Amino acid sequence: MRGNYTTTPLNIKHMSKKGKKTFQTLRGMRDIMPEDWKFYDFVFSEGKRSANDYGYQRIETPMLEYADLFKRTAGHESDIVTKEMYDFEDKGGDHIVVRPELTAPISRAYIEHGMPNQPHPVKLWYWMSAMRYERPQAGRYRQFTHLGYEVYGDAVPVTDAEMMIMGYRMLEAWGIPVTVHVNSLGDKESRTAYKRALTSFLKPKLKEFAEEDRERYKKNILRILDSKDKEMQKMLEDAPQMIDYLSDESREYLLKIVDYLDDLNIPYELDSKLVRGLDYYTGTVFEFIPNACEIESPEGKKREIPGGRLSVGGGGRYDDLIQELGGKQTPAIGMSFGVERILLHLKERRLQVPDSEKPQVFVGQIGEDARKRSLALFEELRSKGIRVSSLFSKEGIKSQLDMANKTGVRYALILGQKELLDNTILIRDMENGIQETVDLGKAVSEIMKRLKTVS
Ligand code: HAM
Repeated sequence: MRGNYTTTPLNIKHMSKKGKKTFQTLRGMRDIMPEDWKFYDFVFSEGKRSANDYGYQRIETPMLEYADLFKRTAGHESDIVTKEMYDFEDKGGDHIVVRPELTAPISRAYIEHGMPNQPHPVKLWYWMSAMRYERPQAGRYRQFTHLGYEVYGDAVPVTDAEMMIMGYRMLEAWGIPVTVHVNSLGDKESRTAYKRALTSFLKPKLKEFAEEDRERYKKNILRILDSKDKEMQKMLEDAPQMIDYLSDESREYLLKIVDYLDDLNIPYELDSKLVRGLDYYTGTVFEFIPNACEIESPEGKKREIPGGRLSVGGGGRYDDLIQELGGKQTPAIGMSFGVERILLHLKERRLQVPDSEKPQVFVGQIGEDARKRSLALFEELRSKGIRVSSLFSKEGIKSQLDMANKTGVRYALILGQKELLDNTILIRDMENGIQETVDLGKAVSEIMKRLKTVS
């Protein structure tokens, strides 16, 4: 990325009808529009509730970090560092990166703020955007949001299992059925032995490799297991399995985790090809992969939703990362959900997402005197915690009621000149159109009573 910018004709994508130049978002970037927020709110509120239930504290780090932080942690040869970082030299000459992920920044913050001296485990959660210069496609964007959880200071299988259970339950709350894919990269000795076995298995076939896999073979052979190349996937069918190379200790650790998952009926799959794209992982790795499922529309029509290889979230252990960042040896594990991928599933499944922001009551008025009184009524309703809407700028009651319908309120309060003289107000039930006249002074208590019976 260049450090300076110019307005070239290239970033002007559209001509309006009048021939004026208009702009579009950058490729792979999206505007979050008003209709998207109820989905984000729904995902966020479950994320926050789970964080509270499982004892996590919220943290946020800056958008920008030193590039070295990611080179040192995600891996010099990883796709994220070699191809996907938005990096630039700032005005002070420092090599800066827009965060491509959050585990490294949060681990940096954990050390920087003396958290190693706090009672452990230290459990942190976050809702933050990240940027990766990837090839955009459905579910893959250049700017996206991570909802994530990190635990420092525990190295026991129940912590790994608890994290997978928590993730699974959150996806269940969002209505997305998944299978947890689990693997262990083992300890250093297991990994070295496995890499050796995989190298001797693949070496005779090297000529048949696609360019990208040849690079992976040279730089980080485990990443070949992740190859999307069909030929390579076929070749790998007979490849040695990671689980056969795990030390007794690593194997027992993994089996203990799946024992906990079995006990709670969490659907999982031992996936010996799961390696993940970041170099900091040690031992347990996991991903949440959506299952295929059938959904029924409100009209009773059934539709197949395919499962997917694209994970909606993933994570794993990174027991060496804190030490690599200059701290003392601290075991750690974490996971992040791709919020936009969860949104895609919510929308595809047309799940009913509760809209907690939706107004309950509309305040309408006819005439200037009524408008004045309605302004006060609006504030009074708000002060009682009722969600209100209005369109004070319009005179006509028709356009006001159209707005009331659009916002989906159950009741409209309408104050006309006659009602004002009689000191009354109309309550209109927007569902059946029935209107009733009540004392103006009792409007708020009457509305509160009615809202209680319909909620
Ligand atoms: P990650 O697998 O790279 O892991 O990202 C986590 C999730 O973010 C993915 O499962 C996916 O749902 C979503 N995601 C990744 N890239 C994109 C993209 N370009 N567009 C939309 N969604 C995307 C990590 O980043 C680790 N920091 C997770 C972790 C936390 N490991 C330990 N603690």
